[in-house]
Amino acid sequence: MSKKRKHTSAPSSSFTKHPHPHKMQKLTPQPHHHHHHRKLNHPKSKHKPIAKQPPPPPQKLPTLFHPSSRILLLGEGDFSFAASLVRHHHVRHLTATSLDSEAELLEKYPQAAGNIALVRGMVGGGGVVVHGVDAGAVERVKAVRKRRFDVIAFMFPHIGGKSTHLDRQVRDNQQLLQSFFAAAKPLLSPRGVIVVTLFEGKHYELWDIKGLARAVGFQTRTSFKFVPEDYPGYAHARTLGNISGGGRWKGEERDARTFIFEVGDRERDTGSGKQRKRKKRDGSPDED
Ligand SMILES: C[S@@+](CC[C@H](N)C(=O)[O-])C[C@H]1O[C@@H](n2cnc3c(N)ncnc32)[C@H](O)[C@@H]1O
Repeated sequence: MSKKRKHTSAPSSSFTKHPHPHKMQKLTPQPHHHHHHRKLNHPKSKHKPIAKQPPPPPQKLPTLFHPSSRILLLGEGDFSFAASLVRHHHVRHLTATSLDSEAELLEKYPQAAGNIALVRGMVGGGGVVVHGVDAGAVERVKAVRKRRFDVIAFMFPHIGGKSTHLDRQVRDNQQLLQSFFAAAKPLLSPRGVIVVTLFEGKHYELWDIKGLARAVGFQTRTSFKFVPEDYPGYAHARTLGNISGGGRWKGEERDARTFIFEVGDRERDTGSGKQRKRKKRDGSPDED
């Protein structure tokens, strides 16, 4: 019962219209099926040149990132996810951020330059790119803290290979997520959502993302399989940078899951989850 999706005024990421975007996706033919296996016993198909076949219908993309949503992306790598939202989801209000400084980023991922330029050059001027943004302290960033967002997304959060010790890896990643949830909460619009995508597997289950979210007052609205084809042009970026020699590790091809979190009912009802009123505090430290 309580698991049912709310059908009241959802944020502009319209869950109401397409409650199962991933399922929709599966029903839709994918555009990369060039290698049609011809049925040899079909008289007509025998001589039909492939070039004359009608083009596949345009790909239906999920509406999680709606054109009118105000979107904040944290922890971008090469900004290919941000670029995909602009190019293919036609988002109009996007603030995309990276932990890395611009110089670090361009050294790690030279391809980021074009993606960043695309966001900054968005028609309508709704694209903002900020570097050096810690997802756990996002409130400190001038370009962000005065705004409210309908969707705050962190794709594949990971602290990187700082520790090879499994327990410590898990703990440090949990800490990253928890501080992200806490910092993002006051920046959400009244019905805004947090989006996090993680790889699937035992290691990631140890992170207990739902439990972490709950501890900060969020409830899980839904979760679904991540379909990379929904984000054309997106290539999962490794924290360390491009693999030299163009290695074969392709994160976007691994099974992954997207989680959608919202402020828990109890908090919303009692008002404790309300956006807190900001008082102007002169002299507060700016660390952006
Ligand atoms: C596996 S990569 C994923 C990058 C990108 N989101 C993507 O999907 O391609 C993990 C990212 O988390 C970022 N990250 C790690 N700690 C962070 C923090 N405290 N704040 C913001 N980003 C962080 C890293 O800089 C890295 O870009």
